[in-house]
Amino acid sequence: MEQEPVNVSEFQKLAKQILPKMYYDFITGGADDEYTLRENIEAFRRITFRPRVLVDVSRINLSTTILGHKISVPIMLAPTARHKIAHPEGEVATARAAAACNTIMVLSFTSNCTLEEVASSCDAVRFFQLYVLKRRDVSAHLVQRAESNGYKAIVLTADRPRLGQREADIKNRLLLPKVKIYEGLISTKSHSDIGWLKSVTNLPILIKGVITAEDAIKAVEVGVDGIIVSNHGARQLDYVPATIFALEEVVKSVGNKVPVLFDGGIRRGTDVFKAIALGAQAVLVGRPVLYGLAVKGEHGIRRVIEMLRDELELTMALSGCCSTKEITRSHIQTQHERL
Ligand code: FNR
Repeated sequence: MEQEPVNVSEFQKLAKQILPKMYYDFITGGADDEYTLRENIEAFRRITFRPRVLVDVSRINLSTTILGHKISVPIMLAPTARHKIAHPEGEVATARAAAACNTIMVLSFTSNCTLEEVASSCDAVRFFQLYVLKRRDVSAHLVQRAESNGYKAIVLTADRPRLGQREADIKNRLLLPKVKIYEGLISTKSHSDIGWLKSVTNLPILIKGVITAEDAIKAVEVGVDGIIVSNHGARQLDYVPATIFALEEVVKSVGNKVPVLFDGGIRRGTDVFKAIALGAQAVLVGRPVLYGLAVKGEHGIRRVIEMLRDELELTMALSGCCSTKEITRSHIQTQHERL
């Protein structure tokens, strides 16, 4: 019998064997030279630990609360497009895995399953991701559908006014099954759109794709309820920094006004710990979820989240932290600080 993968990287290797090359490249690829893609992962290796010993770590609590929703692990499922290219059950399998792990799934605007199908398939806490659209009537309609189907927040992805250049997709002549009619409607708008969005929904609004203090401050001024530090998995503008190195700037500029979440390059529980130490309340994972989905559907995603959870728990025990609140900036050190 084939051995079960023991970490995310092994899941990725299996996914590569299973998926058609065109789809595997679409999932793993980044923009242009893929500098930021490599950095998103490599930057974590330049952060080391300052563990505390002789702490009673017999009980470790991994839970946290995001916008009032208690989740058992500080690891959420990032919005990623078109899950049916990884598995025929698509986003329904993903949502079930989120429910089983007692965490939050963010459903992508470009999902294969409808938001109603996902809503009726499980009782996971779900957020709905939206792009800024040229047509406000379409946005309002989608937000109302999300609200009436029990989605608990809107995640407005702000870093995709146009699609980044992903050269593997060009070479592969990537053809994706059409999702919806909305693709042509994505536009560049201003922060005032957030004010407008707030006027059409009671749901909290998170902005995703912020990597500077300037944008974080503006977002808080116009009333967002949370910020997701993200560079879209390095698929948009190449040569932006690894998100883990943008996180602290955003956290400092926001203070405690709204929660700051993080994504980009999380492949280990140690990465989750580092993001929390730099001020993230929780992280989101994108590609690892798709690897799990490709390899074993709902079960595969559960395994991916469980592995990250177990690694995080061990990291906390070995660092002397009994809860996510006890993880502080002083538990890590950047390369620069070591010099
Ligand atoms: C994404 N991402 C993304 N983001 C978003 O807001 N809406 C979307 O539809 C998608 N689609 C998408 C597809 C694929 C294949 C990938 C890999 C990524 C970005 C995603 O939400 C997240 O920011 C990154 O994936 C996080 O980085 P990691 O965890 O993949 O390294």
